[in-house]
Amino acid sequence: MRTTVTGGAGFIGSHLVEYLLRQGDEVVVLDDLSTGRLSNLDAVAGAAGLRFVEGSILDRDTVDSVIAQADRVFHLAAAVGVRLIVDRPLDGLRTNIHGTENVLDACRESGSVLLLASTSEIYGKNTSDALSEESDRILGSPLTARWTYAAAKGIDEAFAHAYWREFGLQVATVRLFNTVGPRQTGRYGMVVPTLVGQALRGEPLTVFGDGLQTRCFSYVEDVVPAMVAIAEEPAAYGQAFNLGGAREISIVELAERVIEVLGSDSPVTLVPYEQAYAAGYEDMRRRVPDNRRARELVGFEPATPLDDIIVRVAAGLSATDPHARDGQAVARR
Ligand SMILES: NC(=O)c1ccc[n+]([C@@H]2O[C@H](COP(=O)([O-])OP(=O)(O)OC[C@H]3O[C@@H](n4cnc5c(N)ncnc54)[C@H](O)[C@@H]3O)[C@@H](O)[C@H]2O)c1
Repeated sequence: MRTTVTGGAGFIGSHLVEYLLRQGDEVVVLDDLSTGRLSNLDAVAGAAGLRFVEGSILDRDTVDSVIAQADRVFHLAAAVGVRLIVDRPLDGLRTNIHGTENVLDACRESGSVLLLASTSEIYGKNTSDALSEESDRILGSPLTARWTYAAAKGIDEAFAHAYWREFGLQVATVRLFNTVGPRQTGRYGMVVPTLVGQALRGEPLTVFGDGLQTRCFSYVEDVVPAMVAIAEEPAAYGQAFNLGGAREISIVELAERVIEVLGSDSPVTLVPYEQAYAAGYEDMRRRVPDNRRARELVGFEPATPLDDIIVRVAAGLSATDPHARDGQAVARR
């Protein structure tokens, strides 16, 4: 199978590339290394079936060249992370809308199957007990930069669905809910690597707002096989699938788990949103997935417990950041 992964040097993309190579795929990665890193692919560097192309999904010729021979495409390249989106909304909109359109057009021309990576952010402020794929979206103003990520990903999904309806493109969408694991970076506001890194360095764990907002974290190695299984299932085309974690936890509880699991002495510090981002920042109080559709179609089970996830994220950070290791020694004294 010839497979192209856009964003394959990113956090989720690199785990996906490893999984596909293990399955025997020939994999082409397209990544502009804006938030991804070549070192994320160290474990498979030199693999005979892997080719890396540095370039942007905004460059139509490059996109065509990496997709023309592909049997299937996993489209993960995107401007990701709340901080990045809030700081540079225009880049985010262009990458996440025009870039995806380029990928859709290229797949239409090549006849490749496409899996589109979307996000639970599209549900916005809907705090339902279990968000199903049919749940309503409740978004803030389009003039608030924070919502442009959800707006752009929503447009991507609508584009993909229209390509399926009008051109018969074999495309399925996955809505990822707070996927975590080694290689995710805290640089762009991702909460788990941020808190784990702070605990390892013996710094206070910073929690935004009152910390009572909740999320369901899923482990990247539970999510990746489900993404591949969905791409391989013709019944999935034209549909969207939630892929989220099983356990709802508040961010303050998450910080406490990190401290406990890593044996840290760090305190938890609450930081007002206005201090963390700009004034008027809005966050989701709650985001709980209904995973039934993916469970029924491909047997998706987010099985890895949160404590194990924290240990694996810490091991990943310690291996790449010597300061984290020093901090761990401090924190454990
Ligand atoms: N991690 C999560 O919890 C989560 C949740 C919901 C959705 N997603 C989606 O999953 C996908 C992967 O996210 P991630 O968490 O691995 O983030 P990431 O930042 O590690 O991965 C994104 C990758 O895309 C690359 N990229 C960005 N702009 C590009 C461009 N113009 N051309 C080519 N490459 C470009 C980056 O360099 C990076 O390697 C994204 O589409 C994201 O929206 C992730």
